Amino acid sequence: MGERLIVSKIRDGTVIDHIKAGRALEVLKILGISGKEGNIVAVVMNVSSKKLGRKDIVKVEGVELGKEQVDLIALIAPDATINIIRDYDVAEKYRVKVPEKISGLLRCVNPNCITNQPREPIETSFRVVNVSPLKLKCEYCGVVITEELLEKLVEEIA
Ligand code: CTP
Ligand code: ZN
Repeated sequence: MGERLIVSKIRDGTVIDHIKAGRALEVLKILGISGKEGNIVAVVMNVSSKKLGRKDIVKVEGVELGKEQVDLIALIAPDATINIIRDYDVAEKYRVKVPEKISGLLRCVNPNCITNQPREPIETSFRVVNVSPLKLKCEYCGVVITEELLEKLVEEIA
């Protein structure tokens, strides 16, 4: 309820709701939003939620998300709900789902991994080997990425 007092509804775009409190800025990183794009972006942090205690919300006008982005959001905000807004109505609503595999987007932390060799144009690929606590494993070198490390890797996304 409180959130409606803070930001108004959007007309067309996406609302990512039920983000774990404090993680909204990571979600913006994943979406590639810097604020310079010119569309309306609202970030609400630490509002109370029946389901989560406290939560963050990100609202973006004029953007509908791709699968890769939703998969990555699922890793850092496994309880998030994606709401597609069209003409002020919630046209679609779904819960994110932790993917089995995450390709591209994240770099491997192992400098010797084949995905880090400049001559080899290989896309990274990680398998989700544990959901809670989150553990990803590089399909090329086997290095394990923990949740803490993942937060740092998300920070690096340009
Ligand atoms: N929302 C918005 N603009 C709209 C419609 C909805 O910003 N035109 C936002 C709402 O403020 C809310 C989210 O999208 O944060 C989901 O909207 P709705 O389904 O109406 O809310 P709830 O029923 O509270 O959602 P849930 O059951 O998923 O908690
Ligand atoms: Zn690797």
